[in-house]
Amino acid sequence: MSHAELDNQARAILTGNDQGGYTIPTKGLYPYQWNWDSVFVALGFATFDQDRAWREIEMLFEGQWRDGMVPHILFRKDDPSYFPGPSVWGTDGGPIPSSGHSQPPVAASVVHDLLAGDTTGGGEERAERLLPKLMNWHRWYLSYRDPDGLGVIAVIHPWESGRDNLPDWDEALRAVEVRDIGPYERKDTSHVDPAMRPHKEDYDRYLSIVAACRNVGWDPAKVAASCPFFVADPGVTFIFLRANRDLLALAERLGRNEEADEIRGWIAKMEEGAARLWNEDLMAHVAVNERTCKQTDGISSASFLALYAGLTDTRTLSALQGHFDRIAAKVRYLMPSYDPGHPSYEPLRYWRGPVWAMINYMIAKGFAEAGDKARAERLRADTAKLIETGGFAEYFSPESGAGAGGGAFSWTSAIWLSWASSTRAEQAA
Ligand code: DGY
Repeated sequence: MSHAELDNQARAILTGNDQGGYTIPTKGLYPYQWNWDSVFVALGFATFDQDRAWREIEMLFEGQWRDGMVPHILFRKDDPSYFPGPSVWGTDGGPIPSSGHSQPPVAASVVHDLLAGDTTGGGEERAERLLPKLMNWHRWYLSYRDPDGLGVIAVIHPWESGRDNLPDWDEALRAVEVRDIGPYERKDTSHVDPAMRPHKEDYDRYLSIVAACRNVGWDPAKVAASCPFFVADPGVTFIFLRANRDLLALAERLGRNEEADEIRGWIAKMEEGAARLWNEDLMAHVAVNERTCKQTDGISSASFLALYAGLTDTRTLSALQGHFDRIAAKVRYLMPSYDPGHPSYEPLRYWRGPVWAMINYMIAKGFAEAGDKARAERLRADTAKLIETGGFAEYFSPESGAGAGGGAFSWTSAIWLSWASSTRAEQAA
């Protein structure tokens, strides 16, 4: 199929998953508005309907909590095809029923990009309305996911990282006591092959963490102090650091000097804090269990996001180039979500190996900005090939290229339209 035909398919997936201003990731498996899915989706809409792209982000922020948090799922209507739904979360923090934690904060970066490409004439005003909301969300992250001011962001749940069953969480998750969950019925494995999803032992603990936070009323300070899972995540940390740089550019463009000064302080602190995640044996950034101060022992696709975060010093860049080439010699398609040389790697199980289009987009952006156009282009070409052969799947096997997880997936379509499609690459050239 030609890229122009795939462009049409991708647009049809986005409009088919559109619920009237916000977009679900895919029908059946994920029937609500997910935070970072929605934000990447805006990049896709921006290629053919900029007004709709802004709307996506605005509707996400309609669910912002009083304390500043922007939840990972907004349950705008009840849908029995998903578990755990609103009654399990038991939250009361904002105007729309929601989950109780957040997800990677890519929104400021995408708002920045929407404004840069805006031809509607209304972009500046819309960005101005979003700026204080973004500021509040970022302040929330710093207060409650880095309460000790270490300059790294922790997640209180694997779901908050967006990378649910990543091997980095295994040890911290095993330490979570399974309690207060009762009998439950998963729905994900009725939509998708169980071999591509997390195990039941993981789910028992996912729900136990939700129960522990529900028991403290989702009070963010209590959650930070007592949550049985609290792990500094290179993925969220680097996405947040990048988002702060983009938020700073936005504040400067809008002439918001006070905010700009505040953000500069955050960036300086995080640039320093990132060293805490650096694993000298592996020569890469990894996760750190904040309850035990123990670093993890594997390289994930998020390790490469250091460049996207602007950490492009020679040591980091050359270490990541070395890892990139080593991994490229092991698998056919980049970038597997976990190091294929690690014993926990599984090519088809969700975040334990599969390739994700939006992660490739961010990694490539980092390489390109660090001056390494060749590796950036390799990532784009691999992503395009995966979509050509595996369709608009949720994720892909780095070995066979097969599409896996949910189908007709929104963010894969959005990343195709905004970056991977050759029609886009030609326009950008
Ligand atoms: C799920 O239900 O698998 C989601 O990833 C949680 O956000």
